[in-house]
Amino acid sequence: MKFIYSLAFLLGADNWKIDPTPKEIMETIKSLPKDETTILDLGCGDGHDCLTIAKAGYKTIGVDFVPLAIRKARKDAEKAGVREQTSFYQGNVGNLELLNLPKVDLAYDLGCFHLLDRENAQKYIEGLAAVLKKDGIFILKAFTPRQQRKRTVGYAPQEIEKMFASSFKVEKTSDHSYWRFPATWYWMRKL
Ligand SMILES: C[S@@+](CC[C@H](N)C(=O)[O-])C[C@H]1O[C@@H](n2cnc3c(N)ncnc32)[C@H](O)[C@@H]1O
Repeated sequence: MKFIYSLAFLLGADNWKIDPTPKEIMETIKSLPKDETTILDLGCGDGHDCLTIAKAGYKTIGVDFVPLAIRKARKDAEKAGVREQTSFYQGNVGNLELLNLPKVDLAYDLGCFHLLDRENAQKYIEGLAAVLKKDGIFILKAFTPRQQRKRTVGYAPQEIEKMFASSFKVEKTSDHSYWRFPATWYWMRKL
């Protein structure tokens, strides 16, 4: 998986970006105080959403396992004049504890969680729960199940709810699509 994403960034084929940053995220962060809020992007790619959010006045942290994507994110942040408000970490979202991240007020994931195998998905949830402050919001956009080459891709909402239940309460969902595939937005509260 890392190889495929590294190749995509190398070839400039990272065409999964949603531009502009989805209103589901921008509308949610609006209620948070700018100077005191740190926002984490899990699977941030080249950090384009982190930059939009930093330009809106928030501190942002991005994590991705592709070194090229992280280098581009840092460079673009410099160019955009938001280097001070942004931090980018190269690492596996399934091993967040290794990154020693500061606590964050809100986290989001656009299209990364549904890529993980079960073991990494479980570790992701534990790492996220450790880094997100109590009552913090987690926004997730993930595929809902479909058959692809004889295997199921994505999660049913009930499954997501169950997987996150030890540390999160799903407060709202909204059906959507990601590229042309069915997907769901989740707004969760850290318990
Ligand atoms: C579909 S892209 C979405 C990127 C970005 N969130 C966006 O909306 O443009 C998925 C991203 O997750 C990253 N990724 C996948 N598995 C990962 C993992 N285990 N740890 C860290 N990053 C991962 C990929 O490198 C890629 O940048």
